[in-house]
Amino acid sequence: MYFKQGSINVSSNNLKENLILKKLDVSITLDVYDSVEMLPIAIQELMQSAKQARDRAYAPYSSFMVGSSIELANGVIVQGNNQENAAYPSGLCAERVAVFYAGATYPGVAIKNIAITVRSLHHTVLVPTPPCGSCRQALAEYEVNQEEPIKVYFMGETGQVVKANSVKDLLPLIFDSSFLK
Ligand code: THU
Repeated sequence: MYFKQGSINVSSNNLKENLILKKLDVSITLDVYDSVEMLPIAIQELMQSAKQARDRAYAPYSSFMVGSSIELANGVIVQGNNQENAAYPSGLCAERVAVFYAGATYPGVAIKNIAITVRSLHHTVLVPTPPCGSCRQALAEYEVNQEEPIKVYFMGETGQVVKANSVKDLLPLIFDSSFLK
């Protein structure tokens, strides 16, 4: 079916394509390391700290244990792990436990790095496991405020480690306070 739009004849088949103003090509680049040993010692230690936190996770419902460790600009390391709840949505992810503790305890101190690792009681997790969308959003708030990128390192229980040089790389269409103004 054809109809007239101004002086241009538009086919309903390609109507949508014709009305697109432009296409945004969003791409990200992440660094992949073959193992944690390939990373600087300080990051290896941060990941080791995340593993220790992970193994203290309270995850009786999912048996999926997550640990995160944050390095602050003042040198302090803050750990978090997932805290589940019988009322499932009341639980909280490891990353937000850590980042909210950091914000509550050291307000205004920049976050340099966060290391994340997971372990399942059912199988060995070899795939690097990224933070969930809500945790990315929570981390983004701090990154935007501090105006310095937070480097994010994540892995499974063992194996490859992925590094994002900024939370923005994990959340390209970031929502921040600028949209509220
Ligand atoms: N979990 C985290 O701690 N971090 C994430 O980024 C993804 C999921 C936790 C929540 C829940 O306790 C368990 O993993 C299974 O989803």
